This record gives sequence, structure tokens and C-alpha cells, in this order.
Amino acid sequence: MSHSEDAPVALVTGAAKRLGACTARALHALGFDIVIHHHLSSAEAQALAASLNALRADSASTISADLAAEDTPARIADAVAERHRALDLLVNNASVFDASPLDHMDVPAWERIQAINLRAPYFLSLACAPLLRARRGAIVNITDIHSERPRAGYSAYCASKAGLVAVTRGLALELAPDVRVNAVAPGPILWADSEDEALQAATLRGTPLARRGEPEDIAQAVCYLARAAYVTGHVLDVDGGRHLAS
Ligand SMILES: NC(=O)c1ccc[n+]([C@@H]2O[C@H](COP(=O)([O-])OP(=O)(O)OC[C@H]3O[C@@H](n4cnc5c(N)ncnc54)[C@H](OP(=O)(O)O)[C@@H]3O)[C@@H](O)[C@H]2O)c1
Repeated sequence: MSHSEDAPVALVTGAAKRLGACTARALHALGFDIVIHHHLSSAEAQALAASLNALRADSASTISADLAAEDTPARIADAVAERHRALDLLVNNASVFDASPLDHMDVPAWERIQAINLRAPYFLSLACAPLLRARRGAIVNITDIHSERPRAGYSAYCASKAGLVAVTRGLALELAPDVRVNAVAPGPILWADSEDEALQAATLRGTPLARRGEPEDIAQAVCYLARAAYVTGHVLDVDGGRHLAS
């Protein structure tokens, strides 16, 4: 199949690998053309675009940008407008999972986490809003169950994700009725390098379904919210029930 002028367009941030890449592939399978945003993972982003373009010609492109920079959201939205003149879905997936140890925390470290995880999704949503409004599109923010349940050693990360939940609900009101805004809150899906075996086992002991989820579980939740025409302002936990555990 080749590229269609009428194909819906999705922009997924941090889409070169892991959950973002899985989400990009799942949206592509639904018929979306994909703009793969990445930062340092250029080779993985190019390989993903090539594999999607092999399935459907001209259906994927890449854009490299550092979301810690203030002008990045406007730059990304301009590039999408120039390439596609349309946007149907924005998935704010990119994130840093940095610890914030009490004895090593400083203002620049705090600011960097909030800039990438909270400021960038907010301003990217605003920058993309005219394109999204024109197509009655949607935004899906990827948060974390730790936006509600604290995780020791990660207060700054938890605060950024709690802020993103607030932004999800606020923009759902402010961009209605044209644009729906929802979130997916993953539980344990792919371990971070910092999570050793003991911590992994403890996490699974606190997860009612007693296993970690698959990237596909997150991708399918995004696909659902992308098309859930009467759902806005919702945060969907995809966490094996971990938000219930004490
Ligand atoms: N993994 C899990 O189990 C889990 C659990 C709860 C919540 N989540 C949430 O789910 C989402 C995806 O998780 P993940 O583990 O796949 O994420 P990840 O691997 O930690 O990060 C995703 C991408 O974010 C991009 N990124 C980081 N800093 C950036 C910057 N300054 N500018 C632009 N992009 C930047 C990176 O792109 P490059 O590689 O191109 O630099 C990275 O590949 C995140 O929002 C995360 O908080 C994940």
C-alpha cells in the first residue's frame, strides 16, 4: 500500500525505541502516517521509519529535537505543518526517568526533569493545537502510576508526571470541543537500567497481576484513546492493578 493524502497523521515524541516505538508501530498499523520524534537515538529512529515506509511508502518521517530547549515545541509543530499540513494525534511520550536523591538534588536537575516531562508536552500541545483543532484530533499524554503513588527517590519525576495529569485534565477542558486530551498511566512495563533485580521483584510483589506488562499493552491503550470519540480528560491506568496495592 502507498501513502494516501488523506491518511491521518500522528506525531509521537521519543518514538525511536521502547514504548514510543511500539506505539508508533501500532498507530501505523491503524493507518496513521507517523512523525517519529527522537533526540539522541537517530539510528533507531531512521530504522523504524524505514521499516514503516517499507510497509507503506512515504508513511513515516523523523524529526530530531531536544525537548529541554524552549523553542523545540514551536519548531516541531512548524515542521509537521510544513510536511503534512495536518495533525490528527499527538502522543507526548518522551520523558526522562532521573532520580532525585535528597542529598544530591539541585535546581538545574529539577528544572531539566520538569522541562522535558511537563513543560515540553504542554507547549507542544499548544503549538500543535491549531493543526489538531482543524482535524478534531486528539492528544494522549504518557504519565505514570507514580503521579498518584509516590516513588521514593523520584519526587521530581513524580511531580512532573502529576503535573502532566493536571495538564491533561486542564487542556481537555480548554481545547474542547475540538480536541480530546487523555492520558495513559503505565505501571511496570520495561525496566529502567537503574532498576536492579531486587527492585524488580519488589515491584512485581506489589502488582496484583504479578508480572510486568508489555509495550503492546501501552500501545493498544493509546490506540483506544486515539479513537475514543466520547472520552476526554481521562487517565487510563495500564499497570496490572498496581495502583490498588498498598
Ligand atoms: N518503561 C516503563 O515501564 C514505564 C513505566 C511508567 C511510565 N512510563 C512512561 O512511558 C513513557 C515511555 O517509557 P520508556 O521507558 O519507553 O521511556 P524512555 O526510554 O525512558 O524515554 C523515551 C524517550 O524519551 C526521549 N527523550 C529523553 N530526553 C529527551 C530530550 N531532552 N529531548 C527529546 N527526547 C528526549 C529519548 O529519546 P532518544 O532516545 O532519541 O534520546 C527516549 O528514547 C515515558 O513517558 C515514561 O515516563 C514508562
